[in-house]
Amino acid sequence: MESPAHCGHYFRYFWQNRMQFQAVIFQDKKGISESAAYRFVALSHQTKGRFCVALAGGSTPILLYSLLAQPLFRDSIEWERVHLFFGDERAVPPDSPDSNYRMAHESLLAHIPLPPENIHRLRGESEDLDAEAFRYEAEIRALFPDTAVPAFDLVLLGMGADGHCASLFPHKASLGEQNRLVVPAEPGLKPFVPRLTFTYPLLNHAKQTLFLVSGADKAETLQQVLQGEPRYLDLPSQGVQPVAGNVTWLVDREAAARLGKE
Ligand code: 6PG
Repeated sequence: MESPAHCGHYFRYFWQNRMQFQAVIFQDKKGISESAAYRFVALSHQTKGRFCVALAGGSTPILLYSLLAQPLFRDSIEWERVHLFFGDERAVPPDSPDSNYRMAHESLLAHIPLPPENIHRLRGESEDLDAEAFRYEAEIRALFPDTAVPAFDLVLLGMGADGHCASLFPHKASLGEQNRLVVPAEPGLKPFVPRLTFTYPLLNHAKQTLFLVSGADKAETLQQVLQGEPRYLDLPSQGVQPVAGNVTWLVDREAAARLGKE
């Protein structure tokens, strides 16, 4: 499978001389989504055995998930090896229009030959979100029995205009969690409902993290996150700094409009 000939303009950002981010700038969300789909397939081929992925919520990933459900990509993936988790979920039933699971089911899960047991749903409808967070952590750990902190092969993330990722919102207690892998989280942006979210320890052990960021409303925040002062309590996406993995930002021209060239 050939990746698209024109796959974006690459920039490397050396942030405070400590962390190197790679950002790839595409014309539009379609370019972001195609690149992410090719990367998904390529990473799945490079991974021996299980391919564990944490899906992003929100709206940006819908096009990516729809592409993965298309024969070109769908038929290039050994779905029996794939395990799909959710990096965060809203405290709503799975059939709610606000459910990240429902979004993923409609755009991807209903259209691929993924064994049902390989879909690991975060049960946002739980009456006790703390118990659900513990349950989900145990479900994750069961696939990584020999590691202190599970290392996902791929984590997909979006970024809110407030700089949040997953459901790690500015100045919330969940940003300080250093032991648990999944926690309940206070509401942040719409929908204003309680959440469940991966924590930094789990996010930062991923082997490959892809941020998908699209739209002019993200431009100011993206510039601050990638090129501004480190202040992850204000801009939680800055806190995604994998201990050994890579972070690649797939962004469109509108979102990248404020980025300075380095
Ligand atoms: C959520 C998402 C959230 C999302 C960002 C960006 O549950 O809301 O996980 O972190 O990725 O808010 O959302 P958009 O892609 O809709 O801009």
